[in-house]
Amino acid sequence: MSKIAIIGGTGLTSLKGLEITGREIMQTPYGEPSGPLVHGVLAGKEVSFLPRHGAGHTIPPHKINYRANIWALKNAGMEYVLAVNAVGGIRNDMLAGELVLPDQIIDYTVSRTNTFFEEGLKQVVHIDFTYPFCEDLRQKIIRSAEDESIQLISGGTYAATQGPRLETAAEVDRLEKDGCDLIGMTCMPEAALAREQELCYASICVVANKAAGRGDEALTMEKIEENLNGGMLRARQLLQAVIPRLG
Ligand code: HPA
Repeated sequence: MSKIAIIGGTGLTSLKGLEITGREIMQTPYGEPSGPLVHGVLAGKEVSFLPRHGAGHTIPPHKINYRANIWALKNAGMEYVLAVNAVGGIRNDMLAGELVLPDQIIDYTVSRTNTFFEEGLKQVVHIDFTYPFCEDLRQKIIRSAEDESIQLISGGTYAATQGPRLETAAEVDRLEKDGCDLIGMTCMPEAALAREQELCYASICVVANKAAGRGDEALTMEKIEENLNGGMLRARQLLQAVIPRLG
């Protein structure tokens, strides 16, 4: 059974190159995942794909059933989760199309269900989240990018915002003062839930735009999606380079 999952974000609602072998609708105690798991073969290995926003890109970040998604992946036998997340870049080198492998998160989301450990507990559970991403997986991604000469910015603090609106310019200034380098709406609570389920989770971020107030252009969905195309192509190349190194 496949042990490798890819969660696709904006710009990656289907996985080109995945030779599909089946689809599985998972029932979970937390309700419905974003869609069926798409099982297949990529880079010679069994891989399962889940588009976070649904196959038609209809589920906004704050409405994603993160618990159902992570529970489904865990109970389908996954060990590794390669998450792909579209982001806005705060740091000057984080330009549209760049790939970034963050190593830290600050969570600014509100009112999202963010834990599996809340009811029927024998004891309260606090997971260690000092380093929110699986370092083993991060290192494999870094080595794959080096070997394949895929440009990747390694390290950075991901600001997880509530959305679905984009930020104000002042909010971006505050996030920068807090030490954030990039902004997205989907890495939390996904990363924390993955840790609660003891999944090895890392996020490959694709910069879609300069953060609000930092570029000359108005931020539109059309522009964001257009900018993502080139980055997603390289994200796919990176995924294909990493997958053979897992398991
Ligand atoms: N902010 C938050 N999330 C995003 C952005 C952004 O600028 N771009 C893509 N996802």
